[in-house]
Amino acid sequence: MPNYTLLTRQLEALLDDRDWLINAAQTCAFIMQQVPELNWAGFYLQRQPELLTLGPFQGKPACNPIPFSKGVCGGAARSRQTQRIDDVHAIADHIACDAASNSELVVPILRQGTLWGVLDLDSPRHGRFDEVDQAGIEALVEVFNARTDLPDFLSSH
Ligand code: SME
Repeated sequence: MPNYTLLTRQLEALLDDRDWLINAAQTCAFIMQQVPELNWAGFYLQRQPELLTLGPFQGKPACNPIPFSKGVCGGAARSRQTQRIDDVHAIADHIACDAASNSELVVPILRQGTLWGVLDLDSPRHGRFDEVDQAGIEALVEVFNARTDLPDFLSSH
């Protein structure tokens, strides 16, 4: 189990620029290095209404785009609630990008009442993410939000 309190402090130190692209790239690379048993970590962004398009990520090339109506990522965007899935194969509309993925954690990212995007983590281990991981990753998303200026594209919808 990673020490999320320590990871939160380390991410605060790493994100010394206000730019969303730099910080998103650094955040997913940091998570991929520091959180064990992940095969994919990255961002999907709402650059046009109700559509998630691929942002900075680590892992295999991924599905793009994902409408709000589809998949675990779409569910997180629609509901604005973190989705923690022990077995993605049990989810009817799960979108399989990497056959290695068995469990998934998707955290919505909100700015000024608008859904900016989601942070998506995939693991090859069933049930990889528990409540502590969820709270820890949500805390890392809060650091990302606090350290990052609003992107231009957020104001368009
Ligand atoms: N599995 C996701 C799609 C994104 S990939 O895992 C990177 C979903 O069902 O939304």
